[in-house]
Parts: sequence; C-alpha cells; structure tokens
Amino acid sequence: MSANVSTFDVALVTASTFPECLPDEKLLADALASRGLRAGPVIWDDPAVDWSRFRLALVRTAWDSDRRRDEFVAWADRAGAHCPLWNPPEVLRWNTHKGYLRELEARGVATVPTVWLERGSTPDMKALLAERGWTDAVVKPTVSAGARDTLRVRKPEDIPAAQSLVERILPLKDMMVQPYLSSVEGYGERSLLFFGGEHTHAIKRPAALSGNPDYDATAAEPAPSAEDERTFARQVLAATGRELLYARVDIARDEKGGLRLMELEATEPNLFLRQGGPRAVDRLADVITHKARGR
Ligand SMILES: Nc1ncnc2c1ncn2[C@@H]1O[C@H](COP(=O)(O)OP(=O)(O)O)[C@@H](O)[C@H]1O
Ligand SMILES: [Mg+2]
Repeated sequence: MSANVSTFDVALVTASTFPECLPDEKLLADALASRGLRAGPVIWDDPAVDWSRFRLALVRTAWDSDRRRDEFVAWADRAGAHCPLWNPPEVLRWNTHKGYLRELEARGVATVPTVWLERGSTPDMKALLAERGWTDAVVKPTVSAGARDTLRVRKPEDIPAAQSLVERILPLKDMMVQPYLSSVEGYGERSLLFFGGEHTHAIKRPAALSGNPDYDATAAEPAPSAEDERTFARQVLAATGRELLYARVDIARDEKGGLRLMELEATEPNLFLRQGGPRAVDRLADVITHKARGR
C-alpha cells in the first residue's frame, strides 16, 4: 500500500513496527479510492508528517500505542488540531485506560467484576483472591492490548507468578483483577463491529488464556451476533455519550449466561473487515467519506 504519504486524502494511522497496516486496510483503501479518496498508511510518530494535509486521519494499526500511551494521546491531541482525527483525541485518551469500564458500569452497563489496583499500591495477591473467593482469576494491566502482561491464576501454585507480575507492573501502571469467565472458551468472546453507529458484522475470538500455545490475537471467525448481544452493544455505545466512527464491543457471558462487557475497543481495534465482507467495508468507507467531505 506504500505511496507518497503527502498524496493521501485519508491517513490510515499505523505504527512504525507495523508500517503497512493489515490486508483489511487495503480493502478499505480500495473502497475509498472508488469514492475518490486516496488512502494509505501513515506512521503516527513520523516527525516528517504534516497532518494538516489530510482530509481525515483514521487510527488503525497503531499497535504500539499501549506501550507508549502518554506519547500516543499527546500525538492525538496535536494531530487532531490539524485534521479531523477519528476516533477523536478525547475518545482515544478515555479509551486507552480500562478505567472507562468503571464509568460505563456506573451508567448501567454490566461489566466483569473487577478489583482495581492503583499504580504504586502493594497488594497481597493471595489475600486478595481469598477475600473475593476467586479460584480462577485474571490479572491484567489497565493499559494493554493483545493480552500483554495478562495472567490467569487458576491454582494456588499460580499465585507467586501473579505476585511477581503485580510487583513488576504496579510501580508503572494501574492493574485490574477479575474472575475468569470460562465462556470465552467454547461460546467464545464475541466482538460486534459498529461503523457510524450501524452494526455491520460480528466475530468470535479465540480465548487468550486457555493454555493454547498457538493463541493468535488477530484470529477470528465470522459469527452472527445474537439479538441480546446487539441490544447490549447498543446500550454500551449509548452509555459512552460519545460519537464513535468505529467501535468494537467485546462481550463475554458470565456463569449464568448474562452479558458482560469485556472491553470497548474505540482506539485501534482490528476491525476484521475481511470477515465482515463488502457490506462492512462499504459502510465504513461511506462514513469516512461523509466525514472527510464535510470539511
Ligand atoms: N476476566 C476474564 N475472563 C476470561 N478471559 C479473560 C478475562 N480477561 C481477559 N481475558 C482474556 O484475555 C484477553 C485480553 O484481555 P482484554 O481485557 O480484552 O485486554 P486486551 O485485549 O486489551 O489485552 C481477552 O480477549 C480474553 O481472551
Ligand atoms: Mg481485548
């Protein structure tokens, strides 16, 4: 997809570690080309880029943003002052720390029960898990992606590793502890995609912590959403009180089959456009075109 960045109308924002985006973004670029807009990958922290050249910038595979969150959100504020950036800088700042889940829960969204561990705190993991009665639990950073530094504690022998993990990460970042929802195996974590508020497609994702050594965070199979999942996902989007050009609502079922928000991905989700097919690609391209021409 490489071309001269300065000729693009639409920047597909990516990372220097991922300079070409995914084949999915090539589908999007083709759909935009047929609407008269040139689109291609632009590296977010490339100092040579003049963001005022673009009609619109769309955050895509900026997959180092979790490791460099402060720099990334500061970049978004700067770039967003020069061209329409989606999702907006304020959304990117809000969505790159999983503390947004607390806010959504306060607005009535069912999330996964969570103990929030503040940066700088020194919890005793054995005591914490015993107090909650969680015999199968997950410890993860609040700023993460692709299950980085995410650990499952399924037996007492796993507790020392969890203790080491919090002692390594908590000096730097907030963390969270949750019960393990076993429905992510079998029924699977379900991701519902929305472009300009319209639900286009859904996929089923493999479980990251089931012990499968071949886990691939980018793998997914098309799986139609259930009606209760669609209703739930729309409730999540409404609870944000924000306009999202793209959003992925990641849902898991609890032990009673109830829906729980695992994550609302409004920063750099894999949009699984190949699985979504032409309807999804066209809808996304239409929404981008509308926004880009509105300038
Ligand atoms: N409470 C949980 N129960 C079961 N699986 C979990 C839980 N939390 C995380 N996981 C697994 O770890 C993956 C990554 O966690 P997630 O919260 O989505 O963070 P991120 O995708 O930002 O790394 C999930 O897709 C899921 O497979
Ligand atoms: Mg996730």
